[in-house]
Amino acid sequence: MLARCSGGALTGLEAVEVSVEVDIAPGLPGLLMVGLADAAVQESRERVRAALRNSGWRTPLTRVIVNLAPADLRKEGPAFDLPIALAVLMASGQLQPERMRAVWSAGELGLDGSLRPIRGAMALALAARRSGARALVVPQANGAEAALVEGLPIWSAESLSQVLALLADPSQAAPQRQRPRPRPRGPALDLADVRGQLHGRRALEIAAAGAHHLLLVGPPGSGKTMLARRLPGLLPPLSRDEALELSQLYSVAGLLERDGGLLQQRPFRAPHHGCSSAALVGGGSVPRPGELALAHHGVLFLDELGEFRRDVLNQLRQPLEEGEIWISRARQRQRFPCAASLVAATNPCPCGWFGDPGRPCRCSTSMRERYWGKLSGPLLDRIDLQVVVRRLDAEDLGRSYRTANGSCGTDSSGSEGNGSESSAVVAGRVAKARRRMQHRNPDGVANSQLTGAGLRRLGQIETEALQLWQQAMQQRGLSARSAERVLRVARTIADLGDQDSVDATAIAEALSFRSFDQCRRAGG
Ligand SMILES: Nc1ncnc2c1ncn2[C@@H]1O[C@H](COP(=O)(O)OP(=O)(O)O)[C@@H](O)[C@H]1O
Ligand SMILES: [Mg+2]
Repeated sequence: MLARCSGGALTGLEAVEVSVEVDIAPGLPGLLMVGLADAAVQESRERVRAALRNSGWRTPLTRVIVNLAPADLRKEGPAFDLPIALAVLMASGQLQPERMRAVWSAGELGLDGSLRPIRGAMALALAARRSGARALVVPQANGAEAALVEGLPIWSAESLSQVLALLADPSQAAPQRQRPRPRPRGPALDLADVRGQLHGRRALEIAAAGAHHLLLVGPPGSGKTMLARRLPGLLPPLSRDEALELSQLYSVAGLLERDGGLLQQRPFRAPHHGCSSAALVGGGSVPRPGELALAHHGVLFLDELGEFRRDVLNQLRQPLEEGEIWISRARQRQRFPCAASLVAATNPCPCGWFGDPGRPCRCSTSMRERYWGKLSGPLLDRIDLQVVVRRLDAEDLGRSYRTANGSCGTDSSGSEGNGSESSAVVAGRVAKARRRMQHRNPDGVANSQLTGAGLRRLGQIETEALQLWQQAMQQRGLSARSAERVLRVARTIADLGDQDSVDATAIAEALSFRSFDQCRRAGG
């Protein structure tokens, strides 16, 4: 007898329907699996047999053929255990087909019939809803996650026996409690904690407003990491669609917290410089999103940029530009979104102290040149903002502490300009500038995405500003690419200033964010 039920296979961020067909035919006992199944799916033969037996069901004593269709799609992972077990029960007359009509299922079976969580329950729920399914059966641990997709009943269970009880009487299915959406917390890491560093703080604000990538150059302890970690808190809160997409991505990666509800915070990912290209851009025999995709809608922080392998960094180029990454496997290509802001940090030279007033640099000119040569690779081409940060002196740092008699906390110059503006205040300006940018740019693309023609069309630039820009190009020998970066940044500066046209002040400020180039020229 032939039986059929529905499951799903993950293809990047999405899932597609897989029809699980089981035929019980005369012949020697055994379970044969066809339809491009990987090792974990092949192993489900043993798990399914044991789970059925240990849950008190009959396993057929003849030949059982399991086909996973479409045959040209690679099926991975243990999530097919449950639909296979249910199809075997149907084919052997132990489960009425009517009960499985338009019901999708997914779950890994333990030998005792218990159900273990799977990756990508959200993507499966979306695919099931699209196909008009009546319900999706998932392991208990995936219930809350699947229920983030509205409009599809989710039946979650802890074991195969519970699944069969639910199928017999769906009214038993406990409604998945949608956890109240946690109110987005204010940023835990506030810009108010950063003393001084006006240039670095301003760069963060511009990066947040125009979605520009940022390079921080400075000696150890100058606050590069401290600044970078405060960028997510300056970005606008995630919209509902962004939160859903991000949660779906983490669900596919198997990183969504159990019962954690929708992700509300923009991610901050800081991979170690020794990481492999698969860890950074994604991959593996079962393609999974890498750090770049996990930073989607948030920040990817590459600390010690010069220590990353060049070939690994090279792979970031195209995805960073396109906002999506394709991972190719033998038979298919999987797509993951990765619209992340890049913040890179580096020491100014191998010893770390070049340009520091307090400590001499021990590197020779040729050492520095080599170091900079390595840095100025292809990735630096994509970075609009460069900032050289200096270490604060003891006096500056001391001001961030309150003394026992309650003094301090402000600059000797008073509260003006002490750089202790909070993230909330800066985020307010960023939100306003972003609205302006989205209103003006076609398809609401960020200023960082504008290139030649787009910049010319959109950026009204004042005559004086144009002259200053041309002058800087000549005097500093800026390449066309660098000059374009200056214009993009100036456009964002004008947006932050609520101005329609780019004036000379905006150009001058934008030019100040090429300081690593300047520093190199001075010391090279
Ligand atoms: N501008 C600053 N304001 C307040 N604290 C600072 C500042 N710069 C550095 N610090 C202190 O120094 C520590 C080291 O800074 P960090 O960001 O790790 O430096 P880097 O990444 O450049 O090596 C921080 O944890 C912080 O306590
Ligand atoms: Mg650091």
